[in-house]
Amino acid sequence: MSADYLAALPAATQEEIKQAAKIIAEGGLVAFPTETVYGLGANALDAYAVSGIYIAKGRPSDNPIIVHVSSVPMAEFVGEVNWMARYLMEKFWPGPLSLVIPSNPVVPETTRGGLATVGVRMPDNPIALALIETADTPIAAPSANKSGRPSPTDAETVRRDLGKNVDMVLDGGPTLVGLESTVLDVTGEHPVLLRPGGVSKEEIEKTLDMEVLLASDANSLKRSPGTRYRHYAPKVPLVLLDKGQHAFFCNSINKKWAWMGISEPPCAPEQKIIFRNLEEYARELFRAMRALESSGVEMIVAETPEEKGLGFALKDRLIRASGV
Ligand code: TXA
Ligand code: MG
Repeated sequence: MSADYLAALPAATQEEIKQAAKIIAEGGLVAFPTETVYGLGANALDAYAVSGIYIAKGRPSDNPIIVHVSSVPMAEFVGEVNWMARYLMEKFWPGPLSLVIPSNPVVPETTRGGLATVGVRMPDNPIALALIETADTPIAAPSANKSGRPSPTDAETVRRDLGKNVDMVLDGGPTLVGLESTVLDVTGEHPVLLRPGGVSKEEIEKTLDMEVLLASDANSLKRSPGTRYRHYAPKVPLVLLDKGQHAFFCNSINKKWAWMGISEPPCAPEQKIIFRNLEEYARELFRAMRALESSGVEMIVAETPEEKGLGFALKDRLIRASGV
């Protein structure tokens, strides 16, 4: 029936996953790696367990939680999979694409944040898939950070952020994508992009051969509740810098500043983090922000990424972090 993701893992990891699955079955909370960021998981069908996630994160209770599945049939169990959803699942799952579909009644309102829809995704990570399969239930999981902090991309950051609020942390090393999944609403005639992420708008349009609307274009009728809340902003101001502003910036800056970007900085900063390419910029963004905000600089200056592919999602997170 299933792919037996557990059997493919080393014996020690299998033991940990069995223990984690037991915690999930008993209504506890387990943090686990996905290809995007670490998630804080609970049994998606158990309202009481899911309420523990809201409490541990300090998350507003009307912000729905993505339900993680290990197969398309499991997605069909939690919601109505129409042709658009099916097409996208076949093309992009397992992968960083969450699909908002009409919810089935088995999913408690607590998981859906009171909405009639549910966000589902099949993560591309062997530990995550083995955990869902072994627990034998869909797992609701937001990013495993305190509300208002950046999403964690390694197990150590989860432990530091959530501490005793989580029963177990499965360590799968640093995550590969580093930014959260794309969230796409496929309940209407046209798909609506609620959050840019690891799968780009262009890739989705090509697969469906139809236009993807932006939540802002769709008259804000279909906003993702999560986008209403204040997002992570570092403890020191973060500004985005375009090439055209370099001369002005270098002539007027009188603060200790740090640079992060793919190019070398336009003038000498106190600290700098240079990424090899767009993928590395995305993968390391949250870690770099956490490192620079506590390095003693007064300002973080981020190179504006090119708006193509993953660059669109990267710029979205940088703009949120800059607080504009
Ligand atoms: O990559 C990811 O998506 C990570 C990993 C752990 O899978 N999860 C994640 O979850 O980023 P979270 O809760 O931090 O962000 C989920 C976003 C929120 O903005 C939420 O409002 C939106 O997805 N969302 C979830 N279900 C929804 C629904 N039914 N309708 C509209 N938006 C929804
Ligand atoms: Mg989050």
